[in-house]
Amino acid sequence: MSTLYITTGASRGLGAAMVRVLLDEPAELLCLSRGHDEALDALAAARGRRLAQWQVDLARPEPIAERLEQWLRARGPEGLLGVVLINNAAMLETPGPFEAQASSDISRALAVGLAAPLLLTRALLRGTAAWPLPRRLLNISSGLGRRPMAGVSTYCALKAGLDHFSRSLAEEQATAANPLRVVSLAPGIIDTGMQVQLRGADDVAFAAQPVFDELKRSGALDTPEQAAQRVLAFLRRPDFGAEPVADVRG
Ligand SMILES: NC(=O)c1ccc[n+]([C@@H]2O[C@H](COP(=O)([O-])OP(=O)(O)OC[C@H]3O[C@@H](n4cnc5c(N)ncnc54)[C@H](OP(=O)(O)O)[C@@H]3O)[C@@H](O)[C@H]2O)c1
Repeated sequence: MSTLYITTGASRGLGAAMVRVLLDEPAELLCLSRGHDEALDALAAARGRRLAQWQVDLARPEPIAERLEQWLRARGPEGLLGVVLINNAAMLETPGPFEAQASSDISRALAVGLAAPLLLTRALLRGTAAWPLPRRLLNISSGLGRRPMAGVSTYCALKAGLDHFSRSLAEEQATAANPLRVVSLAPGIIDTGMQVQLRGADDVAFAAQPVFDELKRSGALDTPEQAAQRVLAFLRRPDFGAEPVADVRG
């Protein structure tokens, strides 16, 4: 018996670190990213785990969500102890004034970081509606969804949207027969490609750029592996979902 984890953005950063931890336990994995990680295939084979990687662009989420719903219906709950969707994939716009943003960047960031999580959540709810087992939804949020920062307004907006979606869905699910337990979790500050992008931003266009240099210089960043352990420990908490918006730092 295993738990099914559907994880977006598993090709790099926090997502890649989380799926490597999950391969150490009885888990079946479905990973959705544009990239394909051959080392992950090899690791899953060595551990005897079922793993599939869908190479998909979540900036166009509708057909992917449809595919997920059909896949779940075909898979069914046999052999499973539970099912978890981790909406982890996100992208930053190029940091700088909002009026200078390319409209395509704004649209892509909103699609990957907000529309895709909502549509995949709907696919999970519909595709597993009759499954008699625990269902959890972990939305990876950010402190920037809860406090503003000039120069990353689109990212701040989509993370705030993810938080409020999670609050509303948790209320809706509270009266369901088999409620989906929902948390939108800020994962801490992690040394990934996203931080590289923030440190590499133009410090004239993005006034907060030196803050990210200093976070790196002072050793304040978690490694992806440390962050993955903390996020997955949160996911396993028996009271997961009691508060739909949370921070891994407590
Ligand atoms: N790093 C931090 O300090 C920090 C802080 C707070 C919150 N977070 C959140 O943590 C999560 C993980 O971020 P990270 O730091 O690990 O970022 P990252 O290293 O940039 O990784 C982003 C992941 O998202 C995937 N992704 C991006 N665009 C995609 C698209 N169009 N379609 C499919 N997948 C896409 C990427 O895969 P492909 O490129 O292969 O598609 C990659 O696996 C994000 O939700 C982020 O907002 C990070």
